[in-house]
Amino acid sequence: MSLFITLEGPDGGGKSTQARLLVEHLAARGLPALLTREPGGTPIGDQIRRTLMDLGNTGMYPRTEILLFSASRAQIVHEVIRPRLEAGAVVVCDRFYDSTLAYQGYGHGLDLTALRAITDFATGGLRPDLTFLIDLPAEDGLRRRRRGGQWNRLDAYDLAFHQRVRQGYFDLAAAEPDRWVTVDATRPVDAVQSEIRRVVEVRLERG
Ligand SMILES: Nc1ncnc2c1ncn2[C@@H]1O[C@H](COP(=O)(O)OP(=O)(O)O)[C@@H](O)[C@H]1O
Ligand SMILES: [Mg+2]
Repeated sequence: MSLFITLEGPDGGGKSTQARLLVEHLAARGLPALLTREPGGTPIGDQIRRTLMDLGNTGMYPRTEILLFSASRAQIVHEVIRPRLEAGAVVVCDRFYDSTLAYQGYGHGLDLTALRAITDFATGGLRPDLTFLIDLPAEDGLRRRRRGGQWNRLDAYDLAFHQRVRQGYFDLAAAEPDRWVTVDATRPVDAVQSEIRRVVEVRLERG
């Protein structure tokens, strides 16, 4: 069966780490599983990602940022995600449109209704079946990423911005409790991964 899983949450929470481990687990179980990431995940999307992450692009207007993320998303949905889901695969995506709502909507204060219209246009209405909120206090996430040398343009926004993003994720999760599962990412990697696997197994059994 096909299953579309996304991982969301503040930077440094461990989304990329957890997504990779989940896909390894699914593949070991003999399930066709694909890992993708946003922005990026296609040759065109990777070019857009470099522009978004470039520390030199300090003048980027928030609306430009949204359209670039959405452009990358449209490409990956068309080129990768839809075809693989139609073929019956499990697709695990490291960030998806909820990131736009959390960062540009709650973080930058842009109109959520307009953002939803843009993201729906980009995805053609595709929605995840299951979304993990890999949750971590904003300070902890920033500290992890600084330590790991993964600092980028988006991390350079102030702490209050990252706190608004976190609260935004809580609101999104509360609005769609059947889709979202919030995971406490202050725990060790293995504990977080075990919880994610348990939830995914239940979904796969349910069919
Ligand atoms: N549960 C965890 N505990 C401690 N450090 C972690 C944990 N998960 C990830 N990390 C570390 O934190 C950093 C960010 O992890 P990453 O998976 O890239 O997060 P994200 O993709 O959410 O930004 C990496 O250096 C990673 O090794
Ligand atoms: Mg990551």
